[in-house]
Amino acid sequence: MEFESVIRERQSTRKFNGQSVEKEKLDNILEAGRIAPTAKNIQPIKIYVVESPEGLEKIDKASPCRYNAGTVLVVCGDKEQAFTKGEYSTYEMDACIVATHMMLEATNQGINNIWVEMFDEKVLREELSIPTEIVPVCLLPLGYKADDCPASPNHNRRKKLNELVEYI
Ligand SMILES: Cc1cc2nc3c(=O)[nH]c(=O)nc-3n(C[C@H](O)[C@H](O)[C@H](O)COP(=O)(O)O)c2cc1C
Repeated sequence: MEFESVIRERQSTRKFNGQSVEKEKLDNILEAGRIAPTAKNIQPIKIYVVESPEGLEKIDKASPCRYNAGTVLVVCGDKEQAFTKGEYSTYEMDACIVATHMMLEATNQGINNIWVEMFDEKVLREELSIPTEIVPVCLLPLGYKADDCPASPNHNRRKKLNELVEYI
């Protein structure tokens, strides 16, 4: 896909048909995450791929937002490895860049997706046995939208450029 089409055609999917992502496409998506930039190139990232029925059940305990996707990526930052500036650690920024790369590559591969922040961190940690230093930043449910999937309600509601940009 042309890059311009990828960024214009991506939209959040909130009803999947349950099919998991084929290995070759998933590998391409994960590779896009692998090559993303991170602060000082530390790559303080851990990605859990959840596809088994038991694993997906665990995700459902932690979030109402799997939307029946057959594959879920749990994108995490390692706060012990990440670059720090005083109190501030870039693990979350790094994980968001990795997740954005993967979301756009998913769209490029024809894989529907959504970014999910709404999850219970404590439950997710317990269910997936996530170690303390690894912080889950977002979920990326991936797959194919259901035939009756509604359009993403806010997709076309964007501010005008002059509301976001100021030239100095
Ligand atoms: C940081 C972030 C967190 C989000 N969390 C959720 C979520 O927990 N549940 C959900 O249904 N959508 C979530 N979304 C999707 C947004 O609601 C969606 O991107 C926005 O409404 C614009 O719609 P579009 O993605 O179709 O363009 C999240 C998106 C971002 C970027």
